[in-house]
Amino acid sequence: MRTSFGFLKFQKSLRKGLDAPATVAIFVGKGGNSPTMIEAIQKRRSVRTYMGKPLDDETLAQIKQYIRQLQAPFGIQARIELLGIHSEEKRIKLGTYGWIQGAYDYLALVYEEAPFAETAAAYMFEQAVLFCTNLGLGTCWLGSSFSRNDFKKHIQLGENEKLRIVSPVGHASDKKNFIEKHIVKADKKHVSRKPFGELFFHKNFDNPLTETQAGHFLTPLEMVRLAPSANNKQEWRVLLENNMLHFYKKPYPAFDTIDMGIALCHFELSCKELGIEGNFKILKDFYVREPMEYVISWV
Ligand SMILES: Cc1cc2nc3c(=O)[nH]c(=O)nc-3n(C[C@H](O)[C@H](O)[C@H](O)COP(=O)(O)O)c2cc1C
Repeated sequence: MRTSFGFLKFQKSLRKGLDAPATVAIFVGKGGNSPTMIEAIQKRRSVRTYMGKPLDDETLAQIKQYIRQLQAPFGIQARIELLGIHSEEKRIKLGTYGWIQGAYDYLALVYEEAPFAETAAAYMFEQAVLFCTNLGLGTCWLGSSFSRNDFKKHIQLGENEKLRIVSPVGHASDKKNFIEKHIVKADKKHVSRKPFGELFFHKNFDNPLTETQAGHFLTPLEMVRLAPSANNKQEWRVLLENNMLHFYKKPYPAFDTIDMGIALCHFELSCKELGIEGNFKILKDFYVREPMEYVISWV
């Protein structure tokens, strides 16, 4: 864990493709050998075109070791499997309908169905994604663009277990596939982020939170803002009140609970790295603000 943090102006280069104004100043880890999760959050982008070769054994071993020790938060049972198309003889098909090209290795998220399971499992999966980012590898959350049947052939699912998300993991290619060139790049909405004041609020949802009011939560909230979400919907909202943060989501089909797990992961990992104390707690009888759904608080 880093102990010293340097002040860094949020550089435009870090936010290439992110629309909101670059006014936010953030803290990033300094010193030590391994990059921080905050650095990984800033660096991560969805990569859909890979170099067309499998990861080397050492990298595979590092990823395996990391995902083996991961545990989903909130007491949820979840695991991540690493699947690979490692040789021509043992070629297995892991279809992505052309969305991903040149990837030989994939992470797959499996969890036991239970309340809050998707959110907790997504939290865990994002940790693996960030770990791989810090290894210099590309990833891309896939909730729709993959053949569940192909992947299920290589994963043993228990009775209550669900395969929900996969991600390629590998070295990004300089060339971009058709999807990245013509869909993602052409339409900025896939990579841009909503401005700070549209996502975070002070006391009520009529009152946008300013960066000054955010205080020491500025960087963790900024890391929430950078979280990936399905179709880049960014339907998480956070309310600051009496030094507590209340996390809400605008419900939408299929991925809202998963997106929330990623946002919670970014928030908590950043707090930990910055030494900000607190933990997640679901407060009872917390108020509802239609169409917003209360999820959890940081207290
Ligand atoms: C839960 C979830 C599901 C996603 N599913 C897909 C998918 O099926 N296909 C795809 O190309 N991208 C998928 N994405 C990637 C998002 O489109 C991407 O994260 C978002 O546009 C933001 O871009 P960025 O990841 O480059 O920051 C998914 C992301 C999340 C979080």
